[in-house]
Amino acid sequence: MNAPATLPDLSHLWMPFTANKQFKAQPRLLAGASGMYYTSIDGRRILDGTAGLWCVNAGHCREEIVQAVSRQIGNLDYAPGFQLGHPDAFDAATAVAGVMPQGMDRIFFTNSGSESVDTALKIALAYHRARGEGQRVRLIGRERGYHGVGFGGISVGGIVANRKAFSGALLPAVDHLPHTHNLEKNAFSRGQPAWGAHLADELERLIALHDASTIAAVIVEPMAGSAGVLIPPKGYLERLREITARHGILLIFDEVITGYGRLGAATASEFFGITPDIITMAKGVSNAAVPAGAVAVRREIHDAIVGATASGIEFFHGYTYSGHPLAAAAILATLDIYRREDLFARARGLSAKFEAAAHTLQGAPHVVDVRNLGLVAGIELAPREGAPGARATEVFQKCFDRGVLVRFTGDIIAVSPPLIINEDQIGQIFETIGQALKEVQ
Ligand SMILES: Cc1ncc(COP(=O)(O)O)c(C=O)c1O
Repeated sequence: MNAPATLPDLSHLWMPFTANKQFKAQPRLLAGASGMYYTSIDGRRILDGTAGLWCVNAGHCREEIVQAVSRQIGNLDYAPGFQLGHPDAFDAATAVAGVMPQGMDRIFFTNSGSESVDTALKIALAYHRARGEGQRVRLIGRERGYHGVGFGGISVGGIVANRKAFSGALLPAVDHLPHTHNLEKNAFSRGQPAWGAHLADELERLIALHDASTIAAVIVEPMAGSAGVLIPPKGYLERLREITARHGILLIFDEVITGYGRLGAATASEFFGITPDIITMAKGVSNAAVPAGAVAVRREIHDAIVGATASGIEFFHGYTYSGHPLAAAAILATLDIYRREDLFARARGLSAKFEAAAHTLQGAPHVVDVRNLGLVAGIELAPREGAPGARATEVFQKCFDRGVLVRFTGDIIAVSPPLIINEDQIGQIFETIGQALKEVQ
């Protein structure tokens, strides 16, 4: 390892979703990035096995995005999005609509995945109200779902640690589907597991309990990323679509992770051939170069809300930075790269090699499951007795020390590289995890 560089004062920054005390005792600081690599402040090159936080899908510091954002900040640093606009926000919405499933071409801009989720939930409520079904207020999420950190998102989310400190203050009319993760049935599945489609029928049970007339929307991640890569069983999402449509309930796909090529298509909706009513996105939409998010809705949903008001503001919602000029410039440049380089097809083409490389870890110490879809893999470890999460944390640190960035949630290692990765780099990631696994107890 190179000599450590001078550290900044670490005391003032309260870090998000971080073990602050441990981090500050053993900091990992990044100083630069290019293509597939980060550079740490001590000058080491670190292969990015996670596309940052599942977001830098086109690779780091892409020249076209850098140029577009630089030009924009010198030209139009900010423009209000309320009662005013600027051309790039409209062009960015057109570009986003162009990669969404057919008919989902009305786009609302936000700044993050959390804001996209809260926006989508509000659109669902506003839609039913506009149609005279204002009693449809109940929202159904799923256990182990992650939908960001707004009060809406944690209410429909199903990650206990993210909820428990706030449990007295969550949205009241919420219920949850069971999650679909089952190692007894599905361990070491390649692609979508065969078992579990029937778990979607639990929605019928919730509908029988609450009555469809009280339910506004069901929100799920088509593939759950943050909870540790939970791949939907074959037929599961199709059934959710069928049941929601039959009962007039909106289906929201939270595609903050799966959008923009992660599975080898523009969206998971396209990948699975299932069109929901609302899609949330963020992360890859701007290659994470500027914070940005969006919600795509079916045209009828937009028209129902906008058409319900004769004049004046139709939807009392929005952010100071909705459609920010820098975000719009980044989105336009990013979508242009995806299209020109055909990166979603590239991800699709690499996915078999990626799957084979991931599954070489079957039989490695502590590994109880390997699962994958597109350019995502989850490697689940048996927890160390009395210290859940410790093994995966150590694997993460050992990989980082060896120059490979992976992610961990509990005892699950997640790999989700930029879509520009090559086969050697795929090999390097899984070999490095394999070496690290041999060293942890
Ligand atoms: C599915 C999903 N929804 C929402 C979010 C929240 O996004 P953000 O952190 O940009 O608020 C995430 C973040 O990982 C996510 O994976």
